[in-house]
Amino acid sequence: MLQRVVSVDRLEGTLSPPGDKSISHRAILLNAIARGPARITNCSTSIDCEATVACIRKLGVLAYHSHSEPSVVTVEGAGGLLWEPSMLLDAGNSGTTLRLLSGILAGQSFFSVVTGDHSLRHRPMARIIEPLKLMGANIQGRHDDALAPLAIHGGGLHGIDYKLPIASSQVKSALLLAGLQASSPTTLREPAPTRNHTENMLAAMGADIAIDGNTVMISPSTLNAQDIRVPGDISAAAFWMVAAATHPNATLEISGVGVNPSRAGVLEILRRMGADIQMNNPREEGGEPAADIVVKSSSLEGIKISGDIIPNVIDELPVLAVAACFARGTTVIRDAAELRLKETDRITAMVQELRNMGAVIQELPDGMVIEGSASLNGTTCQSYGDHRVAMALAVASLLAVGETVIEGAECVSVSYPEFWEHLETVTKRDVIA
Ligand code: S3P
Repeated sequence: MLQRVVSVDRLEGTLSPPGDKSISHRAILLNAIARGPARITNCSTSIDCEATVACIRKLGVLAYHSHSEPSVVTVEGAGGLLWEPSMLLDAGNSGTTLRLLSGILAGQSFFSVVTGDHSLRHRPMARIIEPLKLMGANIQGRHDDALAPLAIHGGGLHGIDYKLPIASSQVKSALLLAGLQASSPTTLREPAPTRNHTENMLAAMGADIAIDGNTVMISPSTLNAQDIRVPGDISAAAFWMVAAATHPNATLEISGVGVNPSRAGVLEILRRMGADIQMNNPREEGGEPAADIVVKSSSLEGIKISGDIIPNVIDELPVLAVAACFARGTTVIRDAAELRLKETDRITAMVQELRNMGAVIQELPDGMVIEGSASLNGTTCQSYGDHRVAMALAVASLLAVGETVIEGAECVSVSYPEFWEHLETVTKRDVIA
């Protein structure tokens, strides 16, 4: 699909981003191995989360959407009892589905094969296969156990004491889910903090889990089903925060956004850049902090973004690169080589496409350098089939001179099916597909 985006004089309105994708995956997967039924409300209806639902169904778990409200999902777990799937488990584009599910399957004494789309079949899987093998799992993958499809003969796991070589919540979560089913405790040591939704949810569902700084310990446990109201996705909200902060005439209210500190680095970075951000009505949703966020036109300054905050903002870096194009001075993003291992190589993709629009931007092995105050020009851009690249380019297009056409724009549904509709709402324009 080709999507046309043109700049507008004013950006305004209130919108609710979709339910947090990371929390939705975990709510579905953890309830699938828990005892009893659970109702998940404001669950992400993204293609990624649909892949998770489809996989757990193939494992014999009853999971269904409410007819009247698709974001309400009921999952009926049987206390960790899953069936051997007679079909491939297809995670589609979703790394979270494939990696977390592999952690569950590693503990199940049957044979299963998990795979994904072309992008996912080229993303690194040794990061989960190696530690799961150390726990006693029998897993094989393509390319010398580096790539999906993965063939898993699960069961017979024991705990490990493991120092994660990379800061990855997907890896940590896969190992926690395996650790839950092992015969002895598991200790995981992270090099830097990553999103902690799995730990929060496991604790709320009765797992024997303890956290000490960047170390998590889990002992074999059974989970009790839990109803969860998923807060809005801060990674989706980030597109509107940057749109409002960079636009000269904007006020956007983004309501019900999850602001878990392990995910809220984007607020800290935008504030450091000088963004006018207010947080209203702080509350708790689904065991996570949430708030309504109001962002207004701001005068942004370039900054350095590097170090331990990178895992916290890894999904927001494409749109932060857009913010940097409109900031005064230079922005440097470093320590972000993981960006090359996402749905596409997000460093090359953003550098290519923003340069194509006129940005002064340089590619680094682990990040980029952006000279701000550029004036961008509308042109034809590629999404590379990557939802976050497509949405970041849409935000850049809102300030570009002339019309921008984004190719492969349908991929936004991977995380944010309502994105183009919401763009129409805040621009008060028909965004013509
Ligand atoms: C996610 C963790 C991050 C993030 C991804 C979702 C999760 O990946 O980029 O979009 O839900 O755990 P890594 O853990 O691989 O960094």
